[in-house]
Amino acid sequence: MLQLPKVIGHRGAAAYAPENTLASFREAWRRGATWVEIDVKLTADGVPIVMHDESLKRTMGVDRLVAETPRADLPAEVPTFEQAIVCFAELGLGCNVEIKPCQGREQETARVTVGTLRRSWPGQLPPPLLSSFKDASLAAAREAAPEFVRAILLDEIKDDWRQRAEAVGAAGVNTNGKRLTAVQAVAIRKAGYALSVYTINDGDVARALVGMGVDCVITDAPDVILQALSSR
Ligand code: G3P
Ligand code: MG
Repeated sequence: MLQLPKVIGHRGAAAYAPENTLASFREAWRRGATWVEIDVKLTADGVPIVMHDESLKRTMGVDRLVAETPRADLPAEVPTFEQAIVCFAELGLGCNVEIKPCQGREQETARVTVGTLRRSWPGQLPPPLLSSFKDASLAAAREAAPEFVRAILLDEIKDDWRQRAEAVGAAGVNTNGKRLTAVQAVAIRKAGYALSVYTINDGDVARALVGMGVDCVITDAPDVILQALSSR
């Protein structure tokens, strides 16, 4: 089965630093995370950047869509995917790369993401884990670069989860930890998939999920969850 760390810092350490920034990755590392999760999407001119929303408004205060903004116009705090990778190399951080395409750019975003990984992912780091809510992105990633391990990303586990995982050749299932049931957790692990949950910031909840068989907890507060799980 795919081996993952017990804890992954969500968007870096989003509880403590501006999400998906180099400062957030450094904060995650300072607080003990060995991996971070990031969201990758494309600018208007096709540059992969680390950003969650379709718009720059919430995180950067700029009322403009990412898909309509060229790289040159982005605020300096928004890292390119390449800059993020350089930072991971410096810190020794692994990464769950969530392919988060803007509407209609599912395949293009996946292809550019894996192309960047092929060119730039440091050999000394653990191989990255790709995930996406968009099966079309995972399928495109698989076709372009089958060597990168994939996880389906689901807000809710429905009856078709396994069919979807098989269709994109996933080795993992990443899902909303607040909705996951013990029965679902057992079924996913029994089927041979690594199971990760997002976004869990409460130590007791994390302990309960790990008790259900969850392999990896994605959290805004990696120090809190590492501490909670270390006392198991
Ligand atoms: O990849 C886990 C989690 O980040 C998925 O949801 O909306 O925070 O990207 P979101
Ligand atoms: Mg994400």
